[in-house]
Amino acid sequence: MTPAAAAARHSELAAQIRAHDRAYYVDARPTISDTEYDRLYRELCDLEAAHPTLQTPDSPSQRVGGAPIPGFNQVSHSVPMMSLENTYSPEEVRAFLARVQKPLGDIPLRWTIEPKIDGIAVSLRYEQGQFVLGATRGDGAKGDDITSNLRTLRNLPLRLTPTEGTAIPDVLEVRGEVYMATAAFQKLNAERIAAGEEPFANPRNSTAGSLKQLDPRLVARRPMLVVVYGLGQVSGATVPTRQADLLAWFRSLGLPVPERLWTAQSPEEVLHAIQELDTVRRSFGYETDGAVVKLDDLQLRDHEKLRNTSKAPRWAMAYKYAPEQAETLLKAITIQVGRTGALTPVAELEPVFLSGSTVSRATLHNEDELRRKDIRVGDRVIIEKAGEVIPAVVRVVPERRTGTETLFEFPKACPECASPVAREKTSDGEGVVWRCQNPACPAQVRGRLEHWCARGAMDIEGGGEVMVHQLVAAGLAHDVSDLYHLKAEQVAALERMGEKSAANFVAGIDASRSRELWRLLFGLGILHIGTSTAKALSRRFPDLDAIARATPEELMQAEDIGEVIAHSLHNWFRDPANQDLIERLRASGLTFTSSLYRPPTESAAGPFAGKTFVLTGTLPNLSREQATALIEAGGGKVSGSVSKKTHYVVAGDEAGSKLEKATALGIPVLDEASFLAMTTSPAPLA
Ligand code: IVH
Repeated sequence: MTPAAAAARHSELAAQIRAHDRAYYVDARPTISDTEYDRLYRELCDLEAAHPTLQTPDSPSQRVGGAPIPGFNQVSHSVPMMSLENTYSPEEVRAFLARVQKPLGDIPLRWTIEPKIDGIAVSLRYEQGQFVLGATRGDGAKGDDITSNLRTLRNLPLRLTPTEGTAIPDVLEVRGEVYMATAAFQKLNAERIAAGEEPFANPRNSTAGSLKQLDPRLVARRPMLVVVYGLGQVSGATVPTRQADLLAWFRSLGLPVPERLWTAQSPEEVLHAIQELDTVRRSFGYETDGAVVKLDDLQLRDHEKLRNTSKAPRWAMAYKYAPEQAETLLKAITIQVGRTGALTPVAELEPVFLSGSTVSRATLHNEDELRRKDIRVGDRVIIEKAGEVIPAVVRVVPERRTGTETLFEFPKACPECASPVAREKTSDGEGVVWRCQNPACPAQVRGRLEHWCARGAMDIEGGGEVMVHQLVAAGLAHDVSDLYHLKAEQVAALERMGEKSAANFVAGIDASRSRELWRLLFGLGILHIGTSTAKALSRRFPDLDAIARATPEELMQAEDIGEVIAHSLHNWFRDPANQDLIERLRASGLTFTSSLYRPPTESAAGPFAGKTFVLTGTLPNLSREQATALIEAGGGKVSGSVSKKTHYVVAGDEAGSKLEKATALGIPVLDEASFLAMTTSPAPLA
């Protein structure tokens, strides 16, 4: 390649990588698969190796990640957070091992092989055993302070819990990965789809998006976990000298560590361990995308020839397993109209076997995605199981184009009802989607009816896709309230419908009149209302009318209900069409009272049940909202003024008259640390 051609290709690659970086790191919305990204990145690095003048300080190769987003405080990492160099072949692993061995002469080396967990890197800082700071990697030198989000991770210890004989270091900073287990991710996605929200592409995107949320209460509903595998700053402790012992030490301090670790003493053993990991990793229950090979001896890592490059240590390397992909023919693109009217393009594929199942359809997400990937009907495409769950079209195979492929015309009218479609933002405000504007669109009506009958909602047996389709086509159901007027004869008269199944279905509808309120609430298909939100609402409010009447502020008093959800609910109940629907359901005798309702003061759950707190002054780490959320999550109440009824005052810097009053009344005053200690205490307070 001529220098001019290399420079042109380099700037093209750099621009692409920057755009993908921004999408991934800043917007938490990746625009290509990791494999594709790695390919671009490697091409860029190879070009720079061949033409060193291209390696300018602003090249994407010269930094670890994207710029942190505004909204979180920035923190400097006391020890930079490094990335890892990736390899894809056993030869490169051997070359790496030899490279490390060389400066160390003949001494026999030991290696550790750990799973590479496919999540988001974080740094966790403990001072005197207390979790005081959690941060993202950011650009490696500075990251976002996401302490309050990380606090919501159930397996992240808020204080270290050493086993007997293990001393707590004065300062301990550990590095690790936040991730979502596959089952939890699937459940979360199912809930999002049911609540009319966009599903996440894979567990890692879902983790990245979750950690970027500014409302820790929403974060708390995302089932994330952390695992730690490395060391940052440490003082006041004797640090083990080997990686394997380091992990054992972490574990003895109560920190979660990778579930498997291999040690090896020769290149053959290293490669064997990598292979073995590949066979067992699928049973881990979370995604791993490689093996990390590290020099076991921590002191040897300090050798001047093995220290870090600007972005990665020389003593470690990641071997990436190839993702499971397959090539197939894209026969057609169809459009699915969902319950919310969203038009989703779907790839109809020539069936192909991919990681354990036959795939014949894959989502193309939306029009923008189709255009960006330049996907045409008749293309050979590469599909991948993103997150080993939802098949997605990664890219087309341009070499296999014959010229007969055709561009897909995105419909300008709803393919179901021919009504106009409009381009709208998705529910999370991050993407755009075409939506059918006709609430009476048969596809939307069917979607709403199916959702109402679904097992997680009103659980009406026989109310599946086929039945609903026929009811709507026959004009027997326009909304869910029509179900309650159906006669068995009407249902039996539908095509291919036996009398028995008709009778069962009608009996199922009848039984649904007494279903719990949360099922009804979820069944209504209100944007953002999933089952857990519906349950939280019916714990907080005595009946549907109380929910319908509530202001957004009142709705937010229910557990885990933030502004977005509260407004979605409030708006739904303000709509006259929805008010009519509620009245028709009431007239049909559905249950509007909540069996889960517990008046707030009687709440017996949580360490703060029945306790009233007053917050005053500035706390070192927690914001007022965060402290309030913790108190409420523990079943307590926050009051604005100190009285004899106050149980605790939590005081920070510059606490004023409230603190004086508390002292005068003899009310216990807590600092942040002792307050936080109480939030983790399982025993009820005295
Ligand atoms: S060690 C100084 N060990 O993979 C080296 N990283 O692609 C720090 N990762 O930035 C990394 N599992 O976010 C290490 N067992 C493991 C890991 C691991 C996942 C992530 C980490 C790193 C990225 C590099």
